[in-house]
This record gives sequence, C-alpha cells and structure tokens, in this order.
Amino acid sequence: MDSIVINGGVPLRGEIYIAGAKNACLALMPAAILTSEPLTLSNVPNLTDIITMSQLLSTLGLKVEHNPQTSEVNLQGKKITCYKADYDIVRKMRASFLVLGPLVARTGQAEVSLPGGCAIGARAVDLHLMALEKLGAQLELSNGYVKAQAPRGLKGSVINFPVRSVGATENTIMAASLATGETAINNAACEPEIGDLIDCLVAMGAKIEGKNTGSIRIQGQTSIGGTRHQAIHDRIELGTYCLAAAITRGEVTLKGCKQGLNEAFLNKAKQMGMHIESEPNQLNIKCNADRINPLTISTEPYPGFPTDLQAQMMAVLSLANGTSEIDERIFENRFMHVPELNRMGADIQITGSKATIRGVRKLIGAQVMATDLRASVALVLAGLAAHGTTTIRRVYHLDRGYEKLEQKLAACGANIKREQL
Ligand code: EPZ
Repeated sequence: MDSIVINGGVPLRGEIYIAGAKNACLALMPAAILTSEPLTLSNVPNLTDIITMSQLLSTLGLKVEHNPQTSEVNLQGKKITCYKADYDIVRKMRASFLVLGPLVARTGQAEVSLPGGCAIGARAVDLHLMALEKLGAQLELSNGYVKAQAPRGLKGSVINFPVRSVGATENTIMAASLATGETAINNAACEPEIGDLIDCLVAMGAKIEGKNTGSIRIQGQTSIGGTRHQAIHDRIELGTYCLAAAITRGEVTLKGCKQGLNEAFLNKAKQMGMHIESEPNQLNIKCNADRINPLTISTEPYPGFPTDLQAQMMAVLSLANGTSEIDERIFENRFMHVPELNRMGADIQITGSKATIRGVRKLIGAQVMATDLRASVALVLAGLAAHGTTTIRRVYHLDRGYEKLEQKLAACGANIKREQL
C-alpha cells in the first residue's frame, strides 16, 4: 500500500490546473445507459472511481473507452446485456447505485446491490427507492440487493423529497427522462453536478426544466440520443487547493475553473483572511496573514457550505487565532480526521455533530492513517503546514478523488512524495 510523505513548512507558490468534477462524471457516465447512441464525455478526471464506474458499465454491456491522456470517456450501450450491479463493485463505490434508475428506465429491470454504509455514515438509499416506486417500479429487497421491475415502463409522478439528496435526485432525473408523462421533483438537490447532468441529458434530447432550483419538471421521452459533453470542473478539488494555499500561507493560481466556488465557501475563506480574486477561468489565491481568523461553520446542502470541504477546512482552522466551531449536518460520522489531526497537535473536541477547534500555534508531523477521501486530503493539508515529517498511509482513498495530487503540490514547491511501503 502506498504512503505519502510530506516535510511541511513550505508556502505553496505556483499554478494548479483543476480537473473535471468526479461527482459530475459519476452521474454523467451512467446516463449512457439511457440511450443506444454514443455518449462522449470530456474533462473526465483520471481517478480510481472513474475506472470503477467504467468497469461496472462494461459489465452491463456498454462499450466504454477511457482515455486518461485526453481525459475523455466514450460510452455506448447499443444493447444492455446484464441488469445486475454486483455487491463487490457497489460496496467499493456508492455512486454505483446511480445505475439503478437508468437501468430500470431503459430495460424495465435492474438488480443492484444495496451500497451499505461507509466510513462517513449509514448512507441510506430509501429516497432513491421511494422515488422509483412513485415512478411505478415494483421493488423487492432480498439478500442485500434491490430488484426493480417496470415491465410496462415507468410513469411520470410527483416526487416530494423530505430531505435533499444528491444521488436520489440524480437517479430520479435519469429514470424520469424515459418515463411516460410528466414528473415533478420537489425539494430536489441543487448541486452544480446535478445541473451538469441536466445539461447533458437535455443535449441528449431529454426535456428537463428547473435546473439549479429545488423544483424540477421532466417531460418523459420514449428515447433519447447521444451527445458530446464536457464535464464541469471539480469545485471540491478547487476548494481543497484554496485551503492548501491558506494553510501554507502561499500564493497560487488555480486554473480551469469557470464558475469558481460557491458563495458560502468564498465568504468563509475571505472571513478567514484569504484574498481570492476571480478571473475568467482562474482564481488567484493569496493568504499571507500571520494567523487566520477562527470561523463558525455548518455544512448544508448546496448552496450552503459543502460537507466535502469540511475536513479540509478543519485542518486549516486547527491553526487559527482562536476557537472555531463546525457543525456537520449532512453525515453522521464525518469526523474521522479528528483523531489523526489531534495526533499532529491539533486541539479538537467532538460533541455530537459539532466539532470545537481550539487554534494552536503549530502542528507536528506524525504517522497518520487515512480513512475516507476527504479526511485523507485534510491530513495532507495538515502535513503541508506541520513541523517535520508526516507520513499518510492508505492513500488509495486519495486516488479516488484527487488526480495527480502530489505532482500538483510538488509543482508549487511542496516537499511531498509517494512511497511504496
Ligand atoms: C453525494 O453523495 C456525493 N457523492 C458526496 O461526495 C457528497 O458528500 C454528498 O452528495 C453530499 O453533498 C457523489 O456525488 C458521488 P446525499 P450522496 O444522498 O448522493 C441522506 C465525496 O467525498 N440520505 O446527498 O450519497 C444521507 O445519508 C462524496 O466526493 C438518506 O437518508 O449524498 C446523507 O445524510 C462523499 N436517504 C444525506 O442524505 C437516501 O436515500 C445527503 O446524502 C439518500 C441520502
């Protein structure tokens, strides 16, 4: 298993190119199931999750060509030859569950393993299943799988989500695109990745209105076609490197990011003492404050502060000039980075969903363990600022969501390398 070794204390200086959005592509790829025509996706990051999704779609009968050099993925499902998503794949990557809606919509049947929990929480799928039943699918849960049947096709319906769910919204939009009649989705999630999926589906011939609002209306089509679509940039990677500049008191230019970052994150970054200047397709980030200001943050569905940047922000706030509070309101166990940050000298206490972070003057390098994707990168950020050497094990978590992480940081002067242990 690889490890990442960092000798901290170097302010980052230079340019970092932001890759395409993992969480957009993990919804865009299953959309290929909805058509027999080719779907070409560009700006697709070269990540293990993308490889896993490619493998899953291939087992269903799609032709999938992933070209990491050109960041393109060509997909075509002329005929779906298998309707089953195995436990072994789904347990590795929860986003595999996003084949359920498209499979039922295209073929009238699907058998998908329930994803089960993961390090950050139970990760229920009840909202996905509620929506599919409202669209007319007959569901049966047995042996850890959900079997869905819709022999006469899906029928449009009104779906009211009690809480906003990214995945359930995506599964429902894809399923409803081929249902008979109109579907209304109320309290839909509004993450930019969902907007990107809608843009792609509309280009394929789907009739979808209400993008970026909580209310989506879909006129089902008997079939949709292929298209070429460029994925949006990864706003979580963007925010992560913003915070890497902050924790090292560096100055970096982040390129390839059209829409920048959401206001909730930008406001908190500026309150902390960062200088962020937006230009077309890039952000100029500077943080030369002697110490950063403490913050109070609650994670919320978009457009609130993203839960996927909570761990990274906590690493930065562990060195703030005062006490910060973070309330993790999306997932029930997304503080796995806390014990490891405390082993590096941070002073963080957890009470229920709330973390109290008392700023310390310095962090000390240590051997630490990665547990999930965003906790892992929070430890990288801490290592970039810590005195001495930090060794982060189980970096396969990082490879799921960050393309060329150590290369991008080393190009900005960080003393970071990957070691085979
Ligand atoms: C997506 O996960 C992202 N993953 C996550 O990013 C992200 O943290 C999350 O949205 C929230 O923004 C992908 O897009 C592949 P949810 P998803 O359904 O769809 C509960 C990363 O680091 N819920 O919006 O699984 C759920 O338990 C990953 O890139 C139900 O109760 O998230 C959670 O508490 C981690 N029942 C809340 O809703 C359901 O049926 C939000 O989950 C579905 C969800």
